[in-house]
Amino acid sequence: MNKRSLRDLPPQALDGKRALVRVDFNVPLKNGKVTDDTRLRASLPTITYLREKGARVVLLSHLGRPKGGPPPDPQYSLKQIVRDLEGLLGAPVEFIPDPVSGVPATRRLPRGGVALVENTRFWPGEEKNDPELAKTFAALGDLYVNDAFGSAHRAHASTEAITHLLKPAVAGFLMEKELKYLGELLTNPKRPFIAVLGGAKISGKIDVIRSLLPRVDELLIGGAMACTFFAAMGLEVGSSLVEPDRIALAKELLAQSGKKMIIPRGAVIAPSLERASEHKSVSADSIPKGWAVYDIDETTQHDFRARLLRAKTIFWNGPMGVFETPPFDAGTRAIANALVDAGKKGAVTVVGGGDSVAAVAGMEDKLTHVSTGGGASLEFLEGKELPGVAALENA
Ligand code: 3PG
Repeated sequence: MNKRSLRDLPPQALDGKRALVRVDFNVPLKNGKVTDDTRLRASLPTITYLREKGARVVLLSHLGRPKGGPPPDPQYSLKQIVRDLEGLLGAPVEFIPDPVSGVPATRRLPRGGVALVENTRFWPGEEKNDPELAKTFAALGDLYVNDAFGSAHRAHASTEAITHLLKPAVAGFLMEKELKYLGELLTNPKRPFIAVLGGAKISGKIDVIRSLLPRVDELLIGGAMACTFFAAMGLEVGSSLVEPDRIALAKELLAQSGKKMIIPRGAVIAPSLERASEHKSVSADSIPKGWAVYDIDETTQHDFRARLLRAKTIFWNGPMGVFETPPFDAGTRAIANALVDAGKKGAVTVVGGGDSVAAVAGMEDKLTHVSTGGGASLEFLEGKELPGVAALENA
């Protein structure tokens, strides 16, 4: 179902109006400094458009998962990101520490002015989708824009309940873009369509594997997750990370997939991460006892690359190995490069959330779409309805 977007609103619906924009500014911080501002930059097209149209922009977001009641824990305060946001916007950002007393500040904002409200999760009603808290948030704006695709799988006061109180309730440009590219994977992929799934565990990926299997032409498996498939094939996995309670499921998926599921031919192994310097490559049926898999091997890199270069649509989620610890980053880098090269040959390349986003840092311009959603992009591809999307007005 197409959603009404910001671009569908006439200029008079924006000029001088307070646009309450739910963004996902859940960014990584270290010692109070933003270490990756991707999500801030991703929200700029919506904020800039609203400012240019003369709106007063009031931003709402959560940050992290603060626990417990008042007083709020300062390590989760959105105040820490104000300076980064100001730098990116090239304009001052007024910080509103409390949505209850913040209404006059939103009214004082000049046309094109920007304010940021404190972490929505500092109020207990947020995660309960509390209509009372939604009413408090709704008083901060004259219209509602949801640009927080990364939070769209949460039915929270600032993503769901609020849409029933503040209209129009439309999708921002980032939300629109995410729904377009991820939606096309499910409905209209150019073929061949190949998905690459990695990461440590299959337990978190079962639903997405089940959803993608009938849709893709090939599903390439990497990461420690591959070891559970090795075990399902009866291979020795040494001391690799395996989910013993998922081996039966892995067998079932292999049987069900026909020839679509492509398991690594070999692996880079070491006795432990601490003894990474002793690494060597072996074929998948030659993993010795006492050694663990930390990456796909070069043969698999070539095999996966050759397949990806034949694809017209690629979706990738999850690293191929322990990519934070060289040399076990090689497999993940090889996949990132293969996506870029497939893109040069005309393929649509989509990267979904979490660690794989970190693996393509700096390459975003060479990929069709890098999703800002981790859990949200997976739930979307599982075919689930995202409450924050469902709540927006239909086009
Ligand atoms: C994310 O980082 O995936 C989103 O911001 C959602 O955060 P959450 O998992 O804490 O709801």
